Amino acid sequence: MSKPSLSPDQLVAFVCGMPKAELHMHIEGSLEPELMFALAQRNGVELPYASVDALRAAYDFSDLQSFLDIYYAGASVLQTEDDFYEMAWAYFLRAKADNVVHAELFFDPQTHTARGVSFATIINGLYRASQQAQAELGIRAQWILCFLRHLSQEEAVATLQAGLPHIDKFIGVGLDSSELGHPPEKFSKAFELARMLGLRRVAHAGEEGPPEYIWAAIDVLGAERIDHGVRAIDDTVLMERLARERIALTVCPLSNLKLCVVPTLRDHNLGKMLDAGIAVTINSDDPAYFGGYINQNFIETFAALELDVGHAITLARNSFAASFTTDAHKAEYNALLDAWCQQAGVY
Ligand code: HPA
Ligand code: ZN
Repeated sequence: MSKPSLSPDQLVAFVCGMPKAELHMHIEGSLEPELMFALAQRNGVELPYASVDALRAAYDFSDLQSFLDIYYAGASVLQTEDDFYEMAWAYFLRAKADNVVHAELFFDPQTHTARGVSFATIINGLYRASQQAQAELGIRAQWILCFLRHLSQEEAVATLQAGLPHIDKFIGVGLDSSELGHPPEKFSKAFELARMLGLRRVAHAGEEGPPEYIWAAIDVLGAERIDHGVRAIDDTVLMERLARERIALTVCPLSNLKLCVVPTLRDHNLGKMLDAGIAVTINSDDPAYFGGYINQNFIETFAALELDVGHAITLARNSFAASFTTDAHKAEYNALLDAWCQQAGVY
């Protein structure tokens, strides 16, 4: 297998055109300011910002919590099924432009049910968009219900129970929101219930929290992938385990930069994790807030860390392998990737 070195422009074109899966994206984090203002007007919601520009200027975060405060406030404009549909459809158009062929996307029902929006309203709007994305854009998409970890386990269980009539419309559960002080163990019963229901399990861990949270996500919650997981680098035994057991990390470099998890992208440990044999993937997290969709994450990370075409192919293969789809779909995606490599003269 020889991988010719590409010029910087050729590498950008290769990475952008490459078929890929996105495995860590919060649909509420794809709500662009323009749509947020349009929905606010339509629904009579007052936003504490005078304009789209003023809102964008507020996207200057110091840590995860400073982002979450604005993110939850922004989500308050989402009220009807059509609102959820329009937000998700806008994401799918962006994903298509970035050559995403498969997406496993988070939604945060508690952010909306707390405001009186029903579970059915949320999931029916999202599901309509994902069905349309498959039919019209050729993107296969699945939904993952995330529990908000700053709330209680009882509320998480109640949320999952509210989702039961719609269990055919989501494939798994996840855990997001404020990490520090809310260890995975807090949700052991909710994840056990999810397991009994046959749902897949993932969890945010090791974004701001310590490696112990990653161990607990795997061993207590049964998480099959770790969202973020960058703090695994502080624990060599954990790094070896992640590599050995092929437990994928869904890394989000621009998110880590914007939330000050790393001071600059050059300091990001994604390259070291790849070198350690860990099944790393690149994802956009909350692209409307963090400065770009998945291809922008690839472009900036590749430039900062001087990654090459071999890394790009590994990242795409990891994204397919770590997805929760069938082996037949994975084979289909890998064949698309092979064809892309071939036309680029990269074997
Ligand atoms: N971390 C935790 N919770 C979140 C995130 C994140 O990066 N994005 C949206 N909710
Ligand atoms: Zn996230």
